[in-house]
Amino acid sequence: MLINCGSAWDPWTAGRPMTETPEIDPSAVVRNSDFGRYTYLGPRSVVANSELGDYGYAMGDNQIAHARIGKFANLATGVRINPSNHPWWRATLHHFTYRSASHGFSLPDDEEIFAWRRADQVVIGPDVWIGHNAIVMPGVTIGAGAAVGSGAVVTKDVPPFAIVVGVPARVLRPRIDARTAEKLMRIAWWDWPRERIDAALADFRKLDATAFAEKYDQ
Ligand SMILES: CC(C)(COP(=O)(O)OP(=O)(O)OC[C@H]1O[C@@H](n2cnc3c(N)ncnc32)[C@H](O)[C@@H]1OP(=O)(O)O)[C@@H](O)C(=O)NCCC(=O)NCCS
Repeated sequence: MLINCGSAWDPWTAGRPMTETPEIDPSAVVRNSDFGRYTYLGPRSVVANSELGDYGYAMGDNQIAHARIGKFANLATGVRINPSNHPWWRATLHHFTYRSASHGFSLPDDEEIFAWRRADQVVIGPDVWIGHNAIVMPGVTIGAGAAVGSGAVVTKDVPPFAIVVGVPARVLRPRIDARTAEKLMRIAWWDWPRERIDAALADFRKLDATAFAEKYDQ
């Protein structure tokens, strides 16, 4: 029996074209966050105090906090960005010492802990691909065009156009050669207007990164 079901739009079936309006699955929760044009947030995701640049998507079961994510981000299911730390130096690890009011204790919530978490922002460059169930730890910066392998735990900054894997994540290899990387950074196609991207679409398809960079780095 052939079955087709699920929500009206999802990137697997792309039942209808995306629009400039962010597509947020009804089961997702978003707080105090900014989504760009043509963005998608999949089922059961939670996003707080974050930005997702134009064309970025997170496929579902994502938890994202205090993150600035560049354009054309590709986040697989289960990716967690910025799992916040508990104040491990205190007598208890439990959050009643800072979420005090919500636990009915006499002190107000401890703003210092929340400010500390906000300061540990994750920054993700444009065109980054993060594989299934990877975790990006607080304070990490991931450079443009980098790829993170599935299941990685990223504890340190990732250079642009690197492929990192493992726990803790280490550079497996550069995705492209250094000269091409420099050219792509100069081209910064991710900042092009939509019409220009559309005009170059055939080249994005048929040229590899080196040939594309050669052609467009004028
Ligand atoms: C990181 C990745 C892009 C590398 O792809 P690749 O270059 O084809 O990698 P290879 O299969 O040639 O593996 C190269 C080495 O890296 C290791 N490796 C690959 N992926 C790994 C991962 N996710 N974690 C740990 N090690 C990994 C391989 O075991 C191999 O190690 P070896 O040289 O010691 O044998 C890919 O493996 C990956 O993780 N992709 C993410 C897929 C995903 O999550 N998709 C979600 C939908 S968007």
